[in-house]
Amino acid sequence: MGKVGIIMGSTSDLPVMEEAKKILDEIGIPNEMEIVSAHRTPEKMFEYAKNAKKNGVSVIIAGAGGAAHLPGMTASLTSLPVIGVPVKSSNSIDGWDSILSILQMPGGIPVATVALNGAKNAGLLAARIIGSSNESVYKVLSDYQESLKNKVLNSKI
Ligand code: RP5
Repeated sequence: MGKVGIIMGSTSDLPVMEEAKKILDEIGIPNEMEIVSAHRTPEKMFEYAKNAKKNGVSVIIAGAGGAAHLPGMTASLTSLPVIGVPVKSSNSIDGWDSILSILQMPGGIPVATVALNGAKNAGLLAARIIGSSNESVYKVLSDYQESLKNKVLNSKI
């Protein structure tokens, strides 16, 4: 199984983005985390995206806030699936700037955009992509969903 590459524009994105790592660790999917900024370290972004497949990455999760170009630019540099996490960061007006910067990609270069600060679902979506061709990951995800169902069914008011 390949690993999931989790990248983000700044260490200030870490409190949100570590939710992706947490769920991937729980599921047992190898992952790596890196700070890669589209604006401050464009060469590093280029290197990361261009070498991701060669380095054993199967899915990339990219989080950024404000003028959030990292997910889209990364998707333009690789043919691996890229999941974008809009982050409501210090330079984000209200979160919509981050969402729309990641969501409104031009035809031909897809980014699967999750909810604002939705890093946990980004991790789960990456796991589902890997689980579509890996039975043991698929089973862990099915059990996880079953546990969510039981939690709701057993909730008392
Ligand atoms: C974006 O700018 C980063 O992804 C972060 O969400 C935001 C603010 O970065 P810092 O100024 O906190 O480093 O590129």
